[in-house]
Amino acid sequence: MAEATNAPRRAEVTVEGLTKRYGYHPFWHEVLADCSFTLRDGELTVLIGPSGCGKSTLINLLAGYDKPDQGRILLNGAPVAGPGSDRLVVFQETALFPWMTTYGNVAYGPRVARNVPKERVDERVQALLEKVGLQDFKAKYPSQLSGGMQRRGELARMMINDPAVTILDEPFRGLDAMTRELMQEYFVTILEERSQTVLFVTSEIDEAIFLADRLLIMSNRPGAILKEMEIKLPRPRNKDMLQTEEYLGYKREALEVLHAEAIKAFAGGSKSAQDFLEAFHKEHVEQA
Ligand SMILES: Nc1ncnc2c1ncn2[C@@H]1O[C@H](COP(=O)(O)OP(=O)(O)OP(=O)(O)O)[C@@H](O)[C@H]1O
Ligand SMILES: [Mg+2]
Repeated sequence: MAEATNAPRRAEVTVEGLTKRYGYHPFWHEVLADCSFTLRDGELTVLIGPSGCGKSTLINLLAGYDKPDQGRILLNGAPVAGPGSDRLVVFQETALFPWMTTYGNVAYGPRVARNVPKERVDERVQALLEKVGLQDFKAKYPSQLSGGMQRRGELARMMINDPAVTILDEPFRGLDAMTRELMQEYFVTILEERSQTVLFVTSEIDEAIFLADRLLIMSNRPGAILKEMEIKLPRPRNKDMLQTEEYLGYKREALEVLHAEAIKAFAGGSKSAQDFLEAFHKEHVEQA
């Protein structure tokens, strides 16, 4: 296991009966309804759900930026009262600071926290830059990097902080298919070197299964956890596993649940559900 900037801590997050509504009675709409799950210590939990089901709302609650109407969130048994440095949240819009070099961006967290000696910070930055293939670009500014390189820089900047819990909201959304696949591989390689409690949110099924120790499938709005699956694919993971029977079995099982949800949303007139159904049909009916 790689040496961390901070001593490893136990981190378990319990979410109990979360309900979140927007608006006022009787016109409110319920975004989360009795949502419960556990992020186990040292596990990579992936949350997958249809667009608009309340994933980002849930992340805001976990981050402590917003409060639930009912239910509670516990970190190692203690209620989460607001934002804290124990939880690092990476939003989809998160970007590198344009006025800093790649090196400066990655070193930023520990430099601000001032809890690690300078030489150790340097070692960690170099190691992470190497890991994400940016060692030759450390003196460049974000505008001199490609989109994929910028994302790798963000990944390194996130990993160096080593918080108790890391929460990522669709970090690879919007990347082209090849860059996205590479990002997944970088991400999995870095994570497999240390055990950290991570919640990774996505709407992409292959990404979800490839990364996950545990998969949570969320329902349409109001969001709740419909199914929990333990993904026992061996580690280290590699993309060849996406062809195995074991993998396809997990995918089939997850898609059945997602498909049933999409049909419900489709009946309600959702465009994203229609896209999902078309994709499902292509992959599972036409190829059969
Ligand atoms: N501050 C708010 N006030 C009112 N409604 C909101 C607010 N934030 C979110 N919503 C509504 O809650 C629902 C869920 O939104 P959320 O962003 O959590 O979904 P999501 O699953 O993250 O979607 P996506 O996959 O598109 O990112 C949406 O219908 C949205 O309109
Ligand atoms: Mg979202």
